[in-house]
Amino acid sequence: MAQKIPIGILGATGVVGQRFIQMLETHPWFEVAWLAASDRSAGQAYGDAVRWRLKTPIPDAVRKMKVSNATPDGAPRVIFAALDAAIARELEPQFAAAGSAVVSNSSAFRMQQDVPLVIPEVNADHIALLERQDWRKQSGGYIVTNPNCSAIGLVVALAPLQRRFGIESIFVTTMQAVSGAGYPGVASLDILGNVIPYIAKEEEKMEEETRKLLGSLDGDHVRAADFSMTAHCNRVAVEDGHTESVSIKLKRKASAEEIIAAFAEFRSTPQELKLPSAPERPVVYDSAPDRPQPRFDVDRGKGMTVSVGRLRPCGVLDYKFTVLSHNTIRGAAGAALLNAELLKVQGFLPGAAEPRGVRAERVGVLS
Ligand SMILES: NC(=O)c1ccc[n+]([C@@H]2O[C@H](COP(=O)([O-])OP(=O)(O)OC[C@H]3O[C@@H](n4cnc5c(N)ncnc54)[C@H](OP(=O)(O)O)[C@@H]3O)[C@@H](O)[C@H]2O)c1
Repeated sequence: MAQKIPIGILGATGVVGQRFIQMLETHPWFEVAWLAASDRSAGQAYGDAVRWRLKTPIPDAVRKMKVSNATPDGAPRVIFAALDAAIARELEPQFAAAGSAVVSNSSAFRMQQDVPLVIPEVNADHIALLERQDWRKQSGGYIVTNPNCSAIGLVVALAPLQRRFGIESIFVTTMQAVSGAGYPGVASLDILGNVIPYIAKEEEKMEEETRKLLGSLDGDHVRAADFSMTAHCNRVAVEDGHTESVSIKLKRKASAEEIIAAFAEFRSTPQELKLPSAPERPVVYDSAPDRPQPRFDVDRGKGMTVSVGRLRPCGVLDYKFTVLSHNTIRGAAGAALLNAELLKVQGFLPGAAEPRGVRAERVGVLS
């Protein structure tokens, strides 16, 4: 078997960092070789530094691994980054400048013109933007991002409709899980028995990221999709899984049967390339009248499938429906893993044994 590619995790002790470790335990292409977090954790064994919140145990090899300082010295050439935006803005460029491929979860660079914001099922071609980055030109390193955890579920569900019918307007209201706020996140006294109708900058992120993701690549930038959109974001007392009530107006008229067929038949680049983290079906339409629900449906497709249900006519726009996606898997660690798998297949990841300074060259897998 070919040697696995060593990867590092920045923010390894956080909610998303833990998901990375869990999802990478059995990954066929990547293996965890380096972990970093804040000064609070650096120098300790991972098992001592982390407040592990997942139901599966910490993998043995990782438990004993020493947490490093978050500096590029000694870090591998492929980095999964799960840092708060303010810290990511400072640290991610240091790793890219040192020659690492930084596959980022944070919002810090998502909207930067030369930074790809990618969902492989939706806009795999936008990866090409990374060639415009100065880091790439100078050291071979670069930053690629995945979207906000609410935008991703919405956009995976909308992509098949945009392809077949076009989209004119979107109205979305979210009910977002507490794990989306990191750990310890929202205080229990604030969220138990409550709904918080505010998540800082979330509505702006959803609106601008959705337009970039569903936009088209135009030379050195993405031309944003031209639909009108408004988002209302709420935090609710759910552990994992963001639920969204969506209304849309389509550019071309479509029957409910045609819309359900578009969801059901949607397959894309990750499924064609058989990427290891790709769900067999990116979108599953559930016809039960009271689904999807986070408690029952959040783990569909190992957390990578977006569940849709309750399609019905909308009194204001054309149709309304419910979307559910796993915020720390499809919305974070799984999203970044799928991006890294796409980068590998496209020839953008350095091989297992290549030192910094060896530039990974693109192979023509995708047009
Ligand atoms: N949670 C989600 O559902 C979700 C979904 C999509 C995107 N995201 C994004 O992913 C990123 C991480 O989110 P999270 O929920 O995992 O946050 P989190 O639970 O608060 O974890 C933050 C991580 O960053 C580390 N860190 C803090 N300050 C640092 C510093 N100065 N230098 C190096 N490392 C530092 C922490 O290490 P210590 O333990 O040592 O403090 C911890 O490992 C955020 O940008 C978030 O917006 C989250």
